[in-house]
Amino acid sequence: MSEKRHEIQPYDYIEYFMSEAALLVTIDKNNKPNVMALLYKMIGEMWGLPIITVGVAPSRYSFELLTKNIDEFTVNIPSNKIIRAIEIAGDYSGRDVDKFNKAGLDIIPGKRIKIPTIKDCILSYECKVRHIDKSGDLSIHNLFFGEILAAYASNDIIKK
Ligand SMILES: Cc1cc2nc3c(=O)[nH]c(=O)nc-3n(C[C@H](O)[C@H](O)[C@H](O)COP(=O)(O)O)c2cc1C
Repeated sequence: MSEKRHEIQPYDYIEYFMSEAALLVTIDKNNKPNVMALLYKMIGEMWGLPIITVGVAPSRYSFELLTKNIDEFTVNIPSNKIIRAIEIAGDYSGRDVDKFNKAGLDIIPGKRIKIPTIKDCILSYECKVRHIDKSGDLSIHNLFFGEILAAYASNDIIKK
């Protein structure tokens, strides 16, 4: 674990959870990570479990990785230091571009799942998919309900 962050309980510091668009990380068959910009996200309790729900459209490479490779993901709320990564993660597809390289992002290996989190984030979560649903008439996004197996906060917000 990076020395600049600490493991926290799933709902600690959730006032920071909605503050920015997030970075959703998945991996391919060769364990190469992909990152996408993510606005559709919720945190809360379902089925007695701490859950993060992410809305991902079927056209995204991230959707393919989530449904055809490993049913795990990480959600990362970037600090200002890496905020530009949102643009790159949202403008390009991992089918064409190594976005970690392009955005200069560093990974931290997953502790409880295979998916890494991202360095220099104020909050990061390791999640295991427990349920998938559709959005009905509202949108094409599928909803992936991920149990939070680990959560981390940067020292920058812990100190405040
Ligand atoms: C700020 C921002 C937020 C976004 N939020 C979402 C989202 O919540 N769900 C989604 O499916 N796509 C969202 N997108 C679009 C994807 O990030 C974008 O299509 C990306 O290129 C997909 O990458 P991938 O093909 O590597 O998975 C967002 C884009 C931006 C710029």
